[in-house]
Amino acid sequence: MSFEEKINKKNLPKHVAIIMDGNGRWAKGIGKLRIFGHQNGVSAVREAMEGCVKIGIPYLTLYAFSSENWNRPKLEVQALMELLVNTLAKETATFMKNGVRLNTIGNLQDLPKNCQSKLADTIELTKDNNTCVLTLALSYGSRAEIVEATKAIVRKVIDGEISVDDINESLISENLFTAGIPDPDLMIRTSGEQRISNYLLYQMAYTEFCFLDKMWPEFTREDLFETIYNYQQRERRFGKTSEQL
Ligand code: FPP
Repeated sequence: MSFEEKINKKNLPKHVAIIMDGNGRWAKGIGKLRIFGHQNGVSAVREAMEGCVKIGIPYLTLYAFSSENWNRPKLEVQALMELLVNTLAKETATFMKNGVRLNTIGNLQDLPKNCQSKLADTIELTKDNNTCVLTLALSYGSRAEIVEATKAIVRKVIDGEISVDDINESLISENLFTAGIPDPDLMIRTSGEQRISNYLLYQMAYTEFCFLDKMWPEFTREDLFETIYNYQQRERRFGKTSEQL
C-alpha cells in the first residue's frame, strides 16, 4: 500500500511549510556546481506542489530565499534570481492546470525589478485559482517580519486607531506577511539539518516538525505523502491532556 493510500484524508494538514535545503550539497556530491542543485530543486518544487494538490492540502509555503541568503556569492544570488524568473515563466501552465494561486511573503522590494514584475504578473494571472495557495518566502526573515508587524501596530496605537489593550495574538498574526493564512500544521526540512533558520517563528508555535535526511533535489511527492502519514500518527495536544482531546 502506498503512503498516499494510507493517508487519512479527513486529518490532512491544512498548511505545509517547507525548508528546501541541501541543493548545494547534493550538487557537490555528484561533482557539479551549486547552481545545478538549485536547477534540480525546481522539479522537487513541482513534486511538492502537485502532491499537495493531489491530496487536497490548501496551503503550501516554500522557503525559496532567506534574508540571510543575500550574503551568498554574487553569482549564486544572480543565478537563483534568474532561476526564479525562468521557473515562473515555465510553470504558469502548471499553476493554471492545478488551480494554484501564487503568493509571496518577504521583502520583495529587495529583489531585482524583473523578478518583482514576473512575480506580480504571475500573482495577477493566478489570483482566481482556488485549489492551493503556493506561497514563496523570498528575501524573508521571520524576526524582521515581527519587527515590521510591531512597528505597524505601534503606529496604529499612536494614531489612535487602536488602544494598547486591543493588542492580542490575532492582531499580531494579522500584521504579519502571512495574514489570512492559517498557521502551518507541518514543517518539513530536508538535508538532515534540524533547525528552523528564521522561518515563520511566530506562526510555528504548535507546528509539527519533520526533518528528512534527503537533499531537496531528491524530494518526491511520495516523500511528502510519507511525511504526512507520519504527521498523522502524532497526537497534537495544544497543551491539553490526551484525555481532553
Ligand atoms: C537551500 O539549499 C536552497 C535555497 C537557498 C534555494 C531554494 C531554491 C530552489 C529549490 C530552486 C528554485 C525555487 C523556486 C521556487 C523557483 P542550499 O543551497 O542551502 O544547500 P546547501 O545547504 O547544501 O548548501
